[in-house]
Amino acid sequence: MASGFITITQLKKHCSSLALIIVLILAVMRLRAVECVELDVGGPYGWATPPAKNDQMYNDWASKNRFQVNDTLRFTYKKDSVMTVTEEEYERCRSSHPVFFSNNGDTVLKLDRPGLFYFISGVSGHCQRGLKMVVKFWHGPPPQAAADPSPTSAAAFAAPASIVKTVFILLSSLLGVILPVG
Ligand SMILES: *[C@@H]1O[C@H](CO)[C@@H](O)[C@H](O)[C@H]1NC(C)=O
Repeated sequence: MASGFITITQLKKHCSSLALIIVLILAVMRLRAVECVELDVGGPYGWATPPAKNDQMYNDWASKNRFQVNDTLRFTYKKDSVMTVTEEEYERCRSSHPVFFSNNGDTVLKLDRPGLFYFISGVSGHCQRGLKMVVKFWHGPPPQAAADPSPTSAAAFAAPASIVKTVFILLSSLLGVILPVG
């Protein structure tokens, strides 16, 4: 009886320091999860008319990246501009009233919501030659994510959830608390 009590007391002592460590680990992981990324549009090529007419150059770039809410896009360019436009304007390669316009050579835009973003150059003829891009992303992994062999950010999202569950099971068993674990 008595030895049983001592064991439980010792367990609880260990448990509180263990819990502290776990809370610290989770705090660090949460910081990483909300960390935002800045992406350079077009990589080293930047935002510039493709060398040969190529409608999909920037969409190919966009499809190689995984976007999250509050990530930022950095457009770097010379003698050009970037506009945020509607889908219709994107298709027409023209906008008289863009949602956003910048031509200062270094434009940082935040992806402040999930969904679709349409960007085109405001310089006559450049959009037609391929200086345009659609960015689309949704909350959580897209439906085909399971088939994707390189989902780094999907894995980063999945890790905290499984750790929380593991920690919860561990704490529950240490404290001798029987709770339904789904
Ligand atoms: C994005 O940023 C806004 C304002 O900075 C903040 O209120 C919001 O919680 C952020 N959203 C995410 C998913 O990080």
